[in-house]
Amino acid sequence: MKYFIDTANLDQIKEAHDLGVLDGVTTNPTLMAKEGIKGHDAVYNHYKTICEIVKNGDVSAEVTTVSFKDMVEQGKSLAAIHKNIVVKVPMTVDGVKAMKWFTDNGIRTNCTLIFSAGQAMLAAKVGAAYVSPFIGRIDDSGWDGLELIQQIATIFAVQNIKSQILAASIRSSLHIIKCAEAGANVCTCPLDSIIGLTKHPLTDIGLQKFMEDAKKFQ
Ligand code: E4P
Repeated sequence: MKYFIDTANLDQIKEAHDLGVLDGVTTNPTLMAKEGIKGHDAVYNHYKTICEIVKNGDVSAEVTTVSFKDMVEQGKSLAAIHKNIVVKVPMTVDGVKAMKWFTDNGIRTNCTLIFSAGQAMLAAKVGAAYVSPFIGRIDDSGWDGLELIQQIATIFAVQNIKSQILAASIRSSLHIIKCAEAGANVCTCPLDSIIGLTKHPLTDIGLQKFMEDAKKFQ
């Protein structure tokens, strides 16, 4: 499974990269706004900087338009920023049409805001490179996000569908483990959830003992 970080914060992206586990980045308008980036040039430069930090990994840049025509125009200019930009498109009727256009024109897409297997199937049908089920938001509303990952993974395996399942809206380290178990190809995570994977109380206790005993023979 690949590890993406779900942020537009450059320090966090650098930290994940330095950890050696970073395969890519996802952003969305909310995450960009959180960083206080304003205006066309600042936004485009920010995406370029993210791509340069990640080096070889994909970086999702989301359209902020809703009509087919506007999404196509905006997606073309986002894709032109860097070869690793993947255009993030919402699961709507116009979004599906736009993803088909992008596929036919050699631009890779990540279909965002997926909350059902049918939505994932349709995004895959029009050639989305990634489909992004939002598992945390599903859990928040009393449903089981991981069940959706399992269902999509089963359908994609049975149907030999090549789109990658990008588990999004991750809330914890346990989510990451469960997504791997359920068959996600990629997990896009907050930095804390990735760092959380390093932690176990028995590791801390064991390390403390090793360090104490090491003093005995140094
Ligand atoms: C996916 O690409 C989205 O940016 C993201 O995972 C949304 O997560 P949230 O539910 O924490 O906002």
